[in-house]
Amino acid sequence: MTMAHVIHEFGGAEQLRWDEVTLADPEPNEVRLRQHAVGMNMMEIGLRIGAYPGPPLPFVPGVEAAGVVEAVGSDVKTVAVGDRVGYAGLPIGSYCEARNFPAERLFPLPDDISDKTAAASMVKGMTAEFMLRRSYPVGLGSRVLIHAAAGATGLMCVQLARHLGAEVFGTVSSDEKAAFVRGFGCDHPIVYTRDNFADAVLDATDGDGVDVVYDSIGKDTFEDSVRSLQPLGTLCLFGVASGVPAPLDLMSQDLLTAKFFTRPSLYAHSAKRDNLLDLAAQTFSDVSAGILRTEIFAEYALKDAPEAHRAVESRKTQGAIVFNV
Ligand SMILES: NC(=O)c1ccc[n+]([C@@H]2O[C@H](COP(=O)([O-])OP(=O)(O)OC[C@H]3O[C@@H](n4cnc5c(N)ncnc54)[C@H](OP(=O)(O)O)[C@@H]3O)[C@@H](O)[C@H]2O)c1
Repeated sequence: MTMAHVIHEFGGAEQLRWDEVTLADPEPNEVRLRQHAVGMNMMEIGLRIGAYPGPPLPFVPGVEAAGVVEAVGSDVKTVAVGDRVGYAGLPIGSYCEARNFPAERLFPLPDDISDKTAAASMVKGMTAEFMLRRSYPVGLGSRVLIHAAAGATGLMCVQLARHLGAEVFGTVSSDEKAAFVRGFGCDHPIVYTRDNFADAVLDATDGDGVDVVYDSIGKDTFEDSVRSLQPLGTLCLFGVASGVPAPLDLMSQDLLTAKFFTRPSLYAHSAKRDNLLDLAAQTFSDVSAGILRTEIFAEYALKDAPEAHRAVESRKTQGAIVFNV
């Protein structure tokens, strides 16, 4: 048996129920993992309210954790009992003390990366890596716009963009968040609750616009994200925090300037094991080198996850949330 947060019904944070659940022996291709730190992501809120496609009810949410291998299935060759490992991705179910997990989807944790740092940096850092180095490779002098720049993933994107030599625009909801992201290398924080962000970008670039927008908000931002782009610019829509954007009008003036659109996801970019290992290694290397500072806004005991969900939903958080197990 192990303790886990189980969602039995869609709804508010109270739907995370701290239950005792059965833990079977690992399958031949699985390991049993004793989890030490679990990362929180917006995705779990989407799953909890039923807005994101997920497994059938009841299910345990969560997609990342760091821990130690406790037992291995008979076919497992890639890890051994006692290894420190992490994962970032499917199958869902990280809000628990211990679980079984496919050995092929685990990666090693370097000695200089603590469990807590890993939990705060895996999904967010790997997402920044595939978006800024692979979806649209940012280079010296690129102009980039990052939404929710003070959020856990946004902050990683801001730092990597700056490291790669970009001029960085970022949207935030308050002056406090604007000052915060400036400290992480955002050249032009835009308080979107006061200023239209597309107008601000176009003003600051003499009407040219940016090369790429990394948009995790969706419905509320999509149209102005397209407007912020220069001709041939790229829109990376990687989240839909405000809802799914309306269908594209392919004859709109904004789209007739040959703009590119991509819908990147960590799952697609890490589907092959080589890519998974590569993304994880690149992220940990950037964390170790100080290129990505993992900003932990708050830590909670895993059983207090409902409190953390409420904090993120209040939109007051800046940086990552980690659960200690
Ligand atoms: N495609 C992928 O593989 C992938 C991977 C990781 C994350 N993501 C996406 O990245 C986004 C950020 O995730 P995160 O875990 O790092 O969260 P987060 O950015 O720490 O928190 C979300 C932030 O988004 C902003 N926001 C704007 N409109 C919002 C709305 N309608 N509802 C809630 N928040 C809103 C808020 O910042 P302000 O107060 O500044 O507005 C809020 O603090 C999510 O959309 C997530 O799905 C996608």
